[in-house]
Amino acid sequence: MELDVAVIGAGPGGYTAAIRAAQLGLRTVCIDDWTASDGQPAPGGTCTNVGCIPSKALLQSSEYFDHAAHGLGEHGIVCAPPTLDLGRMMARKDAVVRQTNDGIRYLFRKNKIEFLAGRATLRLRADAAGTAAGDGAVEIVVEPEGRVLQARNVILATGSSPRPLPGIAFDEQRILSNRGALALDAVPPRLGIIGAGVIGLELGSVWRRLGAQVTVLEALPQFLGIADEQIAREALKAFRKQGLDIRLGVQIGAVESGAAGVAVAYRGADGDGTLECDRLVVAIGRVPNSGGWGADAVGLALDARGFVTVDEHCRTNLAGVWAIGDLVRGPMLAHKAEEEGVAVAERIAGKAGHADLARIPSVVYTDPEIAWVGQTEAQLRAAGRAVRVGTFPFSANGRARAAGNAVGLVKMLADESTDEILGVHILGAGASELIAEGVTAMAFGASSEDIARICHAHPTRSEALREAALAVDRRALNF
Ligand code: FAD
Ligand code: NAI
Repeated sequence: MELDVAVIGAGPGGYTAAIRAAQLGLRTVCIDDWTASDGQPAPGGTCTNVGCIPSKALLQSSEYFDHAAHGLGEHGIVCAPPTLDLGRMMARKDAVVRQTNDGIRYLFRKNKIEFLAGRATLRLRADAAGTAAGDGAVEIVVEPEGRVLQARNVILATGSSPRPLPGIAFDEQRILSNRGALALDAVPPRLGIIGAGVIGLELGSVWRRLGAQVTVLEALPQFLGIADEQIAREALKAFRKQGLDIRLGVQIGAVESGAAGVAVAYRGADGDGTLECDRLVVAIGRVPNSGGWGADAVGLALDARGFVTVDEHCRTNLAGVWAIGDLVRGPMLAHKAEEEGVAVAERIAGKAGHADLARIPSVVYTDPEIAWVGQTEAQLRAAGRAVRVGTFPFSANGRARAAGNAVGLVKMLADESTDEILGVHILGAGASELIAEGVTAMAFGASSEDIARICHAHPTRSEALREAALAVDRRALNF
């Protein structure tokens, strides 16, 4: 057989798996069908093209704009209100995306991975038809050329797509998914968002900062239920203070879209209402891309929600076929996909690759940022774990005060008897970077006492982590 590994999908899961496989000396191809608006292949998947990278570019640009408009006066910097060149902001975002696509193509070349731009479909090899798909029984057809590949191992990394509201298709003009919401050519005066999840909050923040009046309709009565309750409560306060109109416990009814805009009928806690907006972003979760490439033809097992069924090592029910990233269970995060990609490549090479799903950090890149790893206080208490809780507010942190952004807190949860850290939750500027210390600590099985005894530079926001660790033992020094 000519190939050791064929990877389908060049998102963060697929391209990382391909690189690791090639590093380990395996003959590897990676196939991806994403094309840029100019028709050129654009490896990098959702993350690079319409996800992590463009959203962070716009979050950064819009944060600068917001600071220039509202945040500099208190530092004694008086400037005329800034004007927005949205075309330039979008062109910069597109350039960052293109640079990332090019970087991935460079990495393919560097690692001698053959990159095939096209759409892959699975089928059973003619000589294997009628048998349970064994090692190498699945082959891949790559369109448009129709090239047929046989590989000892196939890694499925086809990712996910935005979930539409039932019966309401994305037109990317008025009813927008993440794709359209990252590419608007004008700031909509009134932007409606359905879903106060990660995309709703991040992209809602971008457009609010740039001048839109943003209303977010969320089905659940609880705000950001995946985060620690205390952190979510404080975050909600901060977002509402900024002007995000977040309405919880809302049931969406009819959605009418026309030349004048979009009208969303809904039932809320205070009765029925209609949200009139110029554009509507629907961000109610994502669905795995498990259809249309032959999963059923080869007998690949899917779960009830369409995710490819895998064991803890990302093995599917077919020998030699693996699946990773958004296509399988677990959080839909780029770094989770990467972890699985590396682990699978290592397993294929006979090593003990492993992705630790219990210690995958989560980050919401709003201002303040929200980041956590491990379990929430409510999850631990529901599981009957006795925990000690230490919190420390950024208002008592010298660096945060000096910077003029002291919103938020660090919360650390530790086992009552062993003191092992079970969760770290951060709300505040820089939380996305600070959480790495929590992840490292948990990966090494650290106790709160370990963190409390480690010297942290002064003045830094990281001191708040140490203070939260001290607070677990009721001996915070600065609060
Ligand atoms: P994908 O990135 O979806 O890549 C799959 C690739 O496979 C695509 O290029 C697809 O076109 C291709 N493909 C599918 N079928 C075929 C086929 N049959 N043949 C050939 N190619 C095929 N995660 C984070 O961790 N941090 C963030 O900040 C973050 N921000 C996000 C912001 C937004 C707006 C969105 C939508 C998502 C964000 N995510 C973020 C989530 C992240 O993008 C995904 O978790 C990640 O991209 C999943 O990686 P993947 O490799 O599994 O799949
Ligand atoms: P999400 O799962 O984060 O949030 C969806 C929200 O929509 C939930 O709060 C849910 O209760 C709500 N909802 C569902 N159906 C609804 C309905 N009919 N009416 C009103 N509200 C409804 O999903 P989202 O924001 O679409 O993002 C998809 C995924 O992409 C995330 O789960 C995350 O894994 C990933 N992502 C990660 C980012 C990051 O790491 N910073 C950034 C953006 C996306």
